[in-house]
Amino acid sequence: MNRRDNPHKTADRTPYVDDHHRGRDVLRTLRADRRGRGLLGARLSRSEARTARTNEAGARLDRTLATESGFTRHRVASPMIVSGSASQSLAAALAAETGLPLVETSYERFTDGEGIVRVEGDLAGERVVVVAATPTDAAHVELLQLQDAVREAGASAVVTVLPYMGYARQDAAFDPGHPISARAVARAVSTGTDRVLVVNPHKAAICEFFSVPAEPVDAAPLLAEPLPDALDAPLFLAPDENALPLAETVRDANAGRGDGEPGEIDYFEKTRLSSTEVEVAPSDAEVAGRDVVVVDDIVATGTTMSEAIAVLGAREAARVFVACVHPVLAGNARTKLERAGVSGVFGTDTLERAESAVSVAPAVAEKL
Ligand code: R5P
Repeated sequence: MNRRDNPHKTADRTPYVDDHHRGRDVLRTLRADRRGRGLLGARLSRSEARTARTNEAGARLDRTLATESGFTRHRVASPMIVSGSASQSLAAALAAETGLPLVETSYERFTDGEGIVRVEGDLAGERVVVVAATPTDAAHVELLQLQDAVREAGASAVVTVLPYMGYARQDAAFDPGHPISARAVARAVSTGTDRVLVVNPHKAAICEFFSVPAEPVDAAPLLAEPLPDALDAPLFLAPDENALPLAETVRDANAGRGDGEPGEIDYFEKTRLSSTEVEVAPSDAEVAGRDVVVVDDIVATGTTMSEAIAVLGAREAARVFVACVHPVLAGNARTKLERAGVSGVFGTDTLERAESAVSVAPAVAEKL
């Protein structure tokens, strides 16, 4: 059944958002009633709060889909989460954050190397959130399969969350004969979904490559959480000017955490010589004796970061921490950082690594 034939898309149905609003009204009434009776709460039990969060997430998703895709439905049901094999931790965290159920999904490989996914159960009329990072070619194919499988199982609406979007950095044809890989991938992903959320894409403008509504999710404020509490005269440094807004976001979020010094921001000038060679030129900022947090969207080969850490070490910074949204950490990246003298590496769970110190689930849930 394609979208055009989908009976859930007909305009004459009662918008199901109303049902969710009614659900939330019931909870509001419950709270008001408790307040009225002077009971210690207006506080809801854990299961009531979970129900409220589920309804809220569902209603938000419904509102967006009803607005952006013209989808309307009769029955009240929570959206369900389907996870890619590379996004298990994040999908679990998102389920815990929102109270939305996880669909049982399995991933196998045929003898010839081709992959196959299976989503269990009947998803007829369900709204589904597919959460799948695409750090490899196989993960890209797996995402397309998941989108197709949930439609095949009857899902009426699909939101795709790309915690890490592979190929996003190839957002232009940098050499004659090259493709715009980010656009090619975005077009393919768009065929199986009604809406896309991309966590900190290298450039927000790549969202325009999708042919369905797509928007970035900014998880950078969460990067302050795993940083050590007592930073000494902190400097939040971007390895190039493009990453300066990220460094500023993390500085501001860190300042909001406690009564320590808010810290300054600055950036290095970066020149990329090849995919594995960069030069970073120090800024004028005084770093001797200070704690420095170098902030970037991606640490891939670790070349950029290890250069920055080495320069900061030579200028006698006290401790140098790395904070990034996407800890790709390919090949020997982690040991490169260690040899350069890093004091700690903190990433998120857009990719599942030992360095995934904080979940982006709250930022994704907010946008759902
Ligand atoms: C590029 O502009 C990005 O923001 C990162 O700085 C880059 O992808 C890091 O790559 P690598 O770790 O390979 O130096």
